[in-house]
Amino acid sequence: MKPSTQPGTGRKKGIAGLRSSSTMEEFPLSNVYQFLEPGPVVLLSTARGEKSNVMTMSWHMMVEFEPPLVACVVSSADYSFSALLAEKECVIAIPTEDLAPIVVKVGNTSGRTTDKFKKFGLTPLPAQQVAAPLIAECFANFECKVVDTSMVDKYDIFLLEVVKAWVQPSKKQPKTIHHHGYGNFVVDGKTIVLKSKMP
Ligand SMILES: Cc1cc2nc3c(=O)[nH]c(=O)nc-3n(C[C@H](O)[C@H](O)[C@H](O)COP(=O)(O)O)c2cc1C
Repeated sequence: MKPSTQPGTGRKKGIAGLRSSSTMEEFPLSNVYQFLEPGPVVLLSTARGEKSNVMTMSWHMMVEFEPPLVACVVSSADYSFSALLAEKECVIAIPTEDLAPIVVKVGNTSGRTTDKFKKFGLTPLPAQQVAAPLIAECFANFECKVVDTSMVDKYDIFLLEVVKAWVQPSKKQPKTIHHHGYGNFVVDGKTIVLKSKMP
């Protein structure tokens, strides 16, 4: 199949309730770190067979610029764990402040007993390179493959490679949320620009 630059037309289809189009645009892999380095709370989607799930995650960090590598802790107590380990694919989706109440509910509910996409009004969209769905309400979506499981047994740490990145250009200055524990979050604030050698 000829690759498309629009999500929603890729090889993996058949997930219930998909929108046929989206406003997401492809984003350069080399710039993915700019979204994840600040440590936003993210949603992580997985798919196993026809069943998709989503969890909330804040324990993640960049490991390499390009290809973008991300280390993340997905607890073996989470329902998402077995899908991630078996399918070795997921999507990291970055929500903005307006989604914060849903993000917390997603992180306080298990996919074992609940279809969280349906219950919390999140819209799954087909990705191009992974079976796990993109999340339409999130301003950035990164399709990921698990590339290293050597730290899973000891720490529940998965190493992910972002293989495709999408952003919604219509969302100007998206305000991400950052977890301080026990229901406390800080919303992304003002930007200051300083001379720095770091990309
Ligand atoms: C703000 C927030 C951050 C979280 N961060 C993580 C995390 O980094 N890793 C993790 O395993 N669980 C994390 N959780 C908990 C999971 O999202 C939660 O256990 C969820 O119910 C798992 O869903 P599942 O059973 O459908 O996989 C977090 C929850 C919240 C509310």
